[in-house]
Amino acid sequence: MKLAVLSGDGIGPEIMAQALRVIDYLVVTRNIDLKIIHAPFGASAYFEYGHPFPDQTKKICDESDIILKGPVGLSHSDTKKIPIELQPERAAILALRQRYDTFANFRPVFLSPKMSSLSPLKRTVISDGIDFVMIRELVGGLYFGRKTRGKDSFGLRFVEESLEYNEKQIRRVLDIAFDLANKRSRKLHNIHKSNVLLSSVLWNEILDELRLDYPNVSVTNMLVDAAATALCLDPCQFDVMVMENMFGDILSDQAGGIIGSLGLMPSACIGEKKSYFEPSHGSAPDITGKNISNPYSMIGSIAMMLEMSMSHEIEARGVWTALHSVMEKGYLTADLGKSATDATIVSTEEFGSKVIESLEKVDWV
Ligand code: NAD
Ligand code: IPM
Ligand code: MN
Repeated sequence: MKLAVLSGDGIGPEIMAQALRVIDYLVVTRNIDLKIIHAPFGASAYFEYGHPFPDQTKKICDESDIILKGPVGLSHSDTKKIPIELQPERAAILALRQRYDTFANFRPVFLSPKMSSLSPLKRTVISDGIDFVMIRELVGGLYFGRKTRGKDSFGLRFVEESLEYNEKQIRRVLDIAFDLANKRSRKLHNIHKSNVLLSSVLWNEILDELRLDYPNVSVTNMLVDAAATALCLDPCQFDVMVMENMFGDILSDQAGGIIGSLGLMPSACIGEKKSYFEPSHGSAPDITGKNISNPYSMIGSIAMMLEMSMSHEIEARGVWTALHSVMEKGYLTADLGKSATDATIVSTEEFGSKVIESLEKVDWV
């Protein structure tokens, strides 16, 4: 299989380097067949080639079976060096999602019981750790609706952007969420805002039609604002959550907060024909180049890739086991280590080495 690797900006290349060590290890020891092709993507690609998603990268991605992507983007002040329409979030990430129609974004939120002290929430709230998956619609809604900017009849600058969904877009992501819920504990939380947004009214109508196909799954409907509170007060009630694009962007970063760091948030962006894998977080300009970023999110994205796009479930489980055993032994990067009293704080690279050592001990069954 061909794997396009887009390392991205900021901490992207640092965490990707550790992820590639894991891939190399699996290629050599587990007979995994992967040909890696690197391609420029993000702000760095804009400065070098004039576009954050250059044609050569599009070609490499088109010809690859899977894409592995690091975070892209610049700090608030540096991003102004790039014209708005060519900033990498719009012209690279959204373009990538649209090109491959990667409509279902899986964002697992996981802390094992042994790691639950890493959460800022009290032990009494999350005694058994945290384990749920957010399914976020990824190619519709406000992100991809019509946008206009101009002056209104009073001469005032105004902007208009529309939140658009059709029933097919809604049904296919809900179907993925029901299917996942069916395979897990058969509980689905539908996150919506139907008390205000018509888009949520349609979303919920379709959900009510679709749930007839999944009689074993119990659905809880929760307004998105209430869900934000519930994530803090009682996150253990969740198993599978499903929501539209914008809600999912915000709530999944909140989920990163309740497990202690965005560095623990891998993700899978699944399309019908092609999928790509990326951390949920950004390029972390505040810590770039210090060798302190947490590569868990990038390595976890590989575990998701092995399972969801390569049918290598055993290797996927091995990677998760290795990641968790490193952390459970107390080796943590600075994002998590500063709040853990008995931790050994390790660099990005050292964390990668610990994961490889741990992979060497995995019982591959
Ligand atoms: P961010 O996610 O980059 O960082 C938020 C905070 O989390 C920072 O304090 C950062 O240091 C920390 N953090 C994130 N990942 C970490 C990791 N792996 N290890 C340790 N700490 C980590 O969000 P931001 O600062 O708001 O955005 C920075 C840039 O990233 C912006 O240009 C934004 O548009 C972009 N962005 C890109 C993606 C993507 O490529 N998918 C996602 C989100 C944001
Ligand atoms: C994410 C990011 C992206 C989003 C941005 C950078 C386009 O925040 O993947 O969560 O909003 O989807
Ligand atoms: Mn986000």
